[in-house]
Amino acid sequence: MCTILAIESSCDDTSASVIQDGNILSNVISSQVIHQKYGGVVPELASRAHQGNIVPVVESALIEANIRKTDLNAIAFTQGPGLLGSLLVGNSFAKAFALGLNIPLITVDHLHAHLAAHFIGSPDLKMPFLCLLVSGGHTMIVKMTSPLEYTILGRTTDDAAGEAFDKAAKILDFPYPGGPLVDKYALDGNPLRFVFPEPQIPNLDFSFSGLKTSFLYFIQQKTRENPAFVAENLADICASYQHRIVTYLLKRLAKASKETGIKNIGLAGGVAANSYLRKMLLQTAEEKGWQVHIPAFEYCTDNAAMVAMAAHFKYKAGLFSGQEVSPYTRSVGGGI
Ligand code: KG4
Ligand code: ZN
Repeated sequence: MCTILAIESSCDDTSASVIQDGNILSNVISSQVIHQKYGGVVPELASRAHQGNIVPVVESALIEANIRKTDLNAIAFTQGPGLLGSLLVGNSFAKAFALGLNIPLITVDHLHAHLAAHFIGSPDLKMPFLCLLVSGGHTMIVKMTSPLEYTILGRTTDDAAGEAFDKAAKILDFPYPGGPLVDKYALDGNPLRFVFPEPQIPNLDFSFSGLKTSFLYFIQQKTRENPAFVAENLADICASYQHRIVTYLLKRLAKASKETGIKNIGLAGGVAANSYLRKMLLQTAEEKGWQVHIPAFEYCTDNAAMVAMAAHFKYKAGLFSGQEVSPYTRSVGGGI
């Protein structure tokens, strides 16, 4: 029997999970609300909050899983990428815990963890698959060929899709993170009422900064003409802007599918909660004959269960780390 405790602390969620022989026994997440009033994650506050949360979160994960520390066979943690101060808390805690228990350490790349989330409850997932990873920190199309091997086919060159949602939401005076509110207001809106420019960038990469700027200029100009413009047209504004983001993401995904011939499609990251993205993805899948696999939402946003799943595969392959490993803040690319 193999029982692993996994820790995720790359951004603003402190999470711990226990996995036993590939089955998730617990997944405790403490999301930091302190950042809301600042309109974005404040790195210094995030690391301090992780420091306060990590022990109770790990304790809860062990209790919920009904596992004693001495039952553990390995400790896994997100090595990077992420915020340095946040990563250091999880990295240091995991190292000390593994040292104290005299059990091996497993490092997990955050991107690998998002991909591994697809295997939770679906151990026989068909390979290869293409994953559209869309969150507040990433926008990527990744090809996964085995539970331990993947290649990044395209990524954003500036903002992430979640940031594109959140920044527009900020312009509309929504509280942070505003992505879910854009989704909510868009439900009653006409997605074709206003047309925002489609970002132009080669290959399978993405760009969202121009779209965000065009949204800002659009709102400024319309508000000059009519100060009540936003209030009178909120649903259509949200629906049209969301339509541009979603159609852009799906167009790129369709291009990746065509180029690789892969029709197994995954979706991960916090933006996977977007109802219009889900609806349009399923519609595109029907048109193109794709098989779509979306992990349960609690495994799409940052969580330790996905880290545990990635660690399970690394444990089986004997991929352990020494105490000398240190966090990295930027993506190191595909592969393990
Ligand atoms: O994966 P995640 O929880 O955290 C990190 O990025 O680390 O993703 C959060 C992002 C935020 O930008 C949030 O606005 C966005 O996901 N998001 C949404 C929705 N729910 C969350 N964006 C659009 N529509 C949603 N329903
Ligand atoms: Zn993430």
